[in-house]
Amino acid sequence: MGVVASAPAKVILFGEHFVVYGEPAIVLAIDKRAYAKAEKRDDKRLYLRSVNLNLAGYFENGTFKVEQDDAKEAKLKFEPVKLAAEKVLEIYGEKVGLNIEINSTVPVAAGLGSSAAVAAAVTAAVGALLNVEMSKEDVFRITYEAEKIVHGTPSGIDPAISTFGGILLFQMDTGFKPLDVRTDIPLVIGDTGVERPTHAQVAKVRGIRERYPRVVEPVMRAAREIVLRAMDALKENDLETLGELMNINHALLYGVGVSDESLEWLVNAARKAGALGAKLTGAGGGGCMIALAENERLEQVLEAIQRAGGRPFIARKTDEGVRIERT
Ligand code: MEV
Repeated sequence: MGVVASAPAKVILFGEHFVVYGEPAIVLAIDKRAYAKAEKRDDKRLYLRSVNLNLAGYFENGTFKVEQDDAKEAKLKFEPVKLAAEKVLEIYGEKVGLNIEINSTVPVAAGLGSSAAVAAAVTAAVGALLNVEMSKEDVFRITYEAEKIVHGTPSGIDPAISTFGGILLFQMDTGFKPLDVRTDIPLVIGDTGVERPTHAQVAKVRGIRERYPRVVEPVMRAAREIVLRAMDALKENDLETLGELMNINHALLYGVGVSDESLEWLVNAARKAGALGAKLTGAGGGGCMIALAENERLEQVLEAIQRAGGRPFIARKTDEGVRIERT
């Protein structure tokens, strides 16, 4: 028994990295979800299990005991989950023990926001289990707190999209605005399998910007124009323009040093196979790329990415943010 909740992963369609310097970005929730099941325990333990990562352990009186796999790794991965669950318990005002089981179809550390999806699902599941009245705003705030543990000072894109779903326009100073997009956005996502920490990639862009301010400033402005133009194209269901803008956006990201060989292989393979456009998504240096393609070309693009050494899957926009699956 117990309560099951889920939340979606995301891809950044346009504007990653430049968003750190105040430019807008467009982010899309995809139909890959993280699931969390919460149950009450008879004791006060917070017992956590990740089915996919093969990790299990529990927190008791502030200490972590591992039951499955490497203790340090498990503690690191479970810390945000613990924080999310504890925040909800705090609101509930009573200390009860919990079993939390995580089951996720989102590739980990690939720039798809897997940690935020897990934290949002856990927050909602524990809230529903304890009958805590929680709005999506509440889920977002708790998920954002949990995300700070994983990413230090994240922009907040990941917790927002996992909570609210759909497509969001995000800008540091103005926050999030849902975009009303009716059109389907058929994407192939290609995971390079190469892991690079986000903060190192962000630091790389900062270095280039500091060394060449007058060169990078117009690049930032171009990135802003891409987002503005893409908003029109999204409204008009103009996939061809979106594809071209993705190609230009990728070139800008390449220019500031955040693409790498593994991404270039996959981006080029996708374009050659008939994608309307392709770009890296997220922090780059590895991680994932996305390719936009007409429905009848999706399989062809997927196969090309696979042949080029990537791990591809087809993804669709989902309007559903965090949700309760079963009580
Ligand atoms: C990483 O998914 C996106 C970056 O723009 C960093 C951020 O926005 O926090 C690279």
